[in-house]
Amino acid sequence: MRMSDLILKKKHGEILTKEEITFMISKYSSDEIPDYQMAAFAMAVCFQGMDDAEVSYLTHEMAFSGDTIDLSGIDGIKVDKHSSGGVGDKTSLIVLPLVASLGIKVAKMSGRGLGHTGGTLDKLEAIEGFRIELSDDEFIQTVNEVGISLIGQTLNLVPADKKLYGLRDATGTVDSIPLIASSIMSKKIASGADAIVLDVKVGSGAFMKTVDDAKELAKLMVSIGSKLNRKTVAILSNMEEPLGHEVGNANEIKEVVEVLKGHGETKLTELCLELAAQMMVLGEKQSNKEEAIVELREAISSGKALEKFKEFIEAQGGNSGFIDDYSLLPQAKETIEVLSETSGYITAIDAEEVGISAMLLGAGRKTKADKIDYAVGITVLKKTGSKVEKGDVIAHIHSNGNHEDSVAKLKKAFTIENTAPVVDPIIYEVIQ
Ligand code: URA
Repeated sequence: MRMSDLILKKKHGEILTKEEITFMISKYSSDEIPDYQMAAFAMAVCFQGMDDAEVSYLTHEMAFSGDTIDLSGIDGIKVDKHSSGGVGDKTSLIVLPLVASLGIKVAKMSGRGLGHTGGTLDKLEAIEGFRIELSDDEFIQTVNEVGISLIGQTLNLVPADKKLYGLRDATGTVDSIPLIASSIMSKKIASGADAIVLDVKVGSGAFMKTVDDAKELAKLMVSIGSKLNRKTVAILSNMEEPLGHEVGNANEIKEVVEVLKGHGETKLTELCLELAAQMMVLGEKQSNKEEAIVELREAISSGKALEKFKEFIEAQGGNSGFIDDYSLLPQAKETIEVLSETSGYITAIDAEEVGISAMLLGAGRKTKADKIDYAVGITVLKKTGSKVEKGDVIAHIHSNGNHEDSVAKLKKAFTIENTAPVVDPIIYEVIQ
């Protein structure tokens, strides 16, 4: 078999066999196929696409190209949750203790965030003493005893995707739905879960800019899941504006606690309940979503979910005192008020611009080597649809130094017009 023939085959829109895809990924992983040939193949996929069977073979080969996580030491159905990434997305830290409080076992290895704001691990590290490094045995033991553990990635998971993703980034071949779907799903399969709930974000702050594209991606990932025997559900959710009020690290932890105390912003809470309910159904703790939502609301109002969050923080060495006293979280030196420059209705808040504004403060990384400042961030006080007067405070910037560029960026993120907008829902559709 020759890679040049496979490139030609895809260039002409033909379907590759399982053997051909196995050959390509194994030889690429062992450096026997050079980057230039793989780049040509990726470009051919951008134009010709792949069918569902090809994508599932590709996903499988990448998933097993390196280490995989063995969760067999944990009883029950292991359900994973994945977000395609967004600004102010703290849903994992709400949803995972919530479902764990109702008996779903949560074992999650996460990567760090690169880009606008910190990832889940960065947010957790805003908590004094919290350890994201546990041995494999400690990890499994914590899940068995507490019901939840979340740690940094130590294994060499999905090296073929790492290599291919880097190549795609440099060759203009990232935006191919089959390549994105196989890249995301290969990491989920290697992570050992039996079932997967995907939060596919749509909008200015997301990878997928339109509902149609997000739907195509979601359908493909659900189909890959079913071909590879992982029950998969995808939720298309709105990422036109930041999720919730807080964007940063310590301030997002505070918002997590507010949701678990039952005081969360409506849309953020709604999305978390939907994600958690889907996990409850896939994990066979509930037979239908509506009943799951009733039980989840009860776990919040009774304090059970918050108690599980506290147990999880303490099990990984964190000081849980911040749950009752937010001043124990890292605090920025200054809070700057951002004022509305006109009267009217907020018709849009560009999530990406808010994310970049937070990154400029130090809440996210421009490069892998950058250090995060956990204390800084943005509180979006007025969300899309709000009526504002000139001079009203629409946001707070929590700063530890230079913030002129952040203030300018944040102001530009808000669009204020005379007519009230039609506000889109937080959940567009559920694909299963
Ligand atoms: N996220 C991934 O993990 N892979 C892609 O290809 C795109 C987004």
